[in-house]
Amino acid sequence: MKILVINGPNINMLGIRETNIYGNLSYPKLVEMIDEKSKKLKIQVEFFQNNIEGEIINKIQSAYSKYDGIIINPAAYTHYSIAILDAIKSVSIPTIEVHLSNIHSREKYRHHSVTASACIGQISGFGPYGYLMALSYFKESGILNE
Ligand code: DQA
Repeated sequence: MKILVINGPNINMLGIRETNIYGNLSYPKLVEMIDEKSKKLKIQVEFFQNNIEGEIINKIQSAYSKYDGIIINPAAYTHYSIAILDAIKSVSIPTIEVHLSNIHSREKYRHHSVTASACIGQISGFGPYGYLMALSYFKESGILNE
């Protein structure tokens, strides 16, 4: 089982940016945490972080027929990128959307996700554990064996 973990703009600033919202964990530490869990679950994981919408789209397109699943935190693009929505739809790879913070308890403009409709579901508000929950789902639900 091969999973691609994509993080969007400013996720590389974790541990520095708005620590009251996103916590103290840095992006490299987040990667380490996900990597450890993936080893326990015997899942192959690859990571991609980029601040540019088109680069994220290129990465999703290049995942076609190469990955069994995608875990994506599109960050701010969540709220307005129809292009990322279309990219997720175009590759037909089971995708889970993750947010560190609870987007529904924040500013109104964060409540709506345009990308979530192309995903199996959305995990929001559990900090780094959201990514681990998504990995467990892929491993244990059997959805990738159907
Ligand atoms: C985020 C929530 C978004 O609204 C925000 O723009 C981010 C991070 C999260 O993980 O909580 O950059 O996706």
